[in-house]
Amino acid sequence: MKKPGALVPLALLLLLQSGDLVNAGTEDICRLFSNGTVIRDPDSCSQSITCIDHVSHYATCSGSTPFFDKDSAKCVKSLSSSTSSCSISCQGVATHFLADPKSCSGYYYCSDQETALHGTCPQDTHFNSTTQTCTRLNESACTTSSFEYCSIVKDKVSFDNLQGCNKYHECEKGVLKDKTCTSKYYQASTGTCVDKALVACDAHPLPTDVCGKASKPKEDTFVGDAATCRGYFYCAKQKDGTPDPNPSWNQCPQDRFFDETNQKCNYPNLVKCSNDRCDGRTPPFVLSSKAGCRDYLVCSDGVTVTTKSCGNYFFDEDLGSCVQDVKTYSVC
Ligand SMILES: *[C@@H]1O[C@H](CO)[C@@H](O)[C@H](O)[C@H]1NC(C)=O
Ligand SMILES: *[C@@H]1O[C@H](CO)[C@@H](O)[C@H](O)[C@H]1NC(C)=O
Ligand SMILES: *[C@@H]1O[C@H](CO)[C@@H](O)[C@H](O)[C@H]1NC(C)=O
Repeated sequence: MKKPGALVPLALLLLLQSGDLVNAGTEDICRLFSNGTVIRDPDSCSQSITCIDHVSHYATCSGSTPFFDKDSAKCVKSLSSSTSSCSISCQGVATHFLADPKSCSGYYYCSDQETALHGTCPQDTHFNSTTQTCTRLNESACTTSSFEYCSIVKDKVSFDNLQGCNKYHECEKGVLKDKTCTSKYYQASTGTCVDKALVACDAHPLPTDVCGKASKPKEDTFVGDAATCRGYFYCAKQKDGTPDPNPSWNQCPQDRFFDETNQKCNYPNLVKCSNDRCDGRTPPFVLSSKAGCRDYLVCSDGVTVTTKSCGNYFFDEDLGSCVQDVKTYSVC
């Protein structure tokens, strides 16, 4: 087997694969995935990504099983033609180098008619299949292609689509589907729909007719966001008199709730709101809106942990404790 000298460094690189690299980039794809999810690296047919606490951890397939199969989450000898974007054939090109279809710096070396070995060019170089070498970036015309989620994620694995707090994606038979949580929000870290208060998300879905109907639009008006007690939308007056299709969202400062009646941020105990009353509150115990003013909520990190009752006593929010004297607040 004769190999031109220029190819030797490439073949050597095959031995120098790093097994596990960590990418802590700000746009890490793992921000979308639940803890422990394994996907194929969109930039390589030979790398997997394991998402741990929203950070990508890479692993590379090598040797006689150079390809990563997203469905079995294993390194395999070849990929089925259904994952055609990654299909590479060594038929008729033994002892040649082939480009990695998903990566400008990746390549495969066909050691015989059946065996492709994955390799990566040194930093700041791209593989060129015409010259069969790694070339400087300024001499490369390669650009990374965009990818389709369903070619890197296995069916039935849900993931965030960043389109709205209640929206997520799932692949069904290799086709990307839009999904919506019913009256809950999507939590990327667990891959499930959970109570809205548990998800830190500003992209609240617009309530139906949030800025009124065409016959009676709300103009220059603040409207509750129907997801939190602090958040509100501002419906601007439109030139053509239609309801604002894209009202902006904002929220009241800590320890204030949005009061739609008075069009301002107000003391929580003056505002009727059935969303999580622990959201944005600093006291560890806050008044529940249950009639009678005897119940209170135990808060942790802005979320209700549990509801407790003062029994025959009343809850005094200033004291943060149960008192014998009758207490009345407008919300309970
Ligand atoms: C995510 O998974 C890793 C590894 O299994 C584990 O150490 C970590 O605690 C998990 N994170 C959460 C938030 O559960
Ligand atoms: C690419 O850059 C190298 C050094 O940075 C230079 O020697 C070479 O001439 C450049 N090639 C082109 C085509 O600009
Ligand atoms: C590969 O190199 C050839 C010859 O230098 C060049 O014409 C071609 O554009 C290069 N291909 C890519 C993808 O960079």
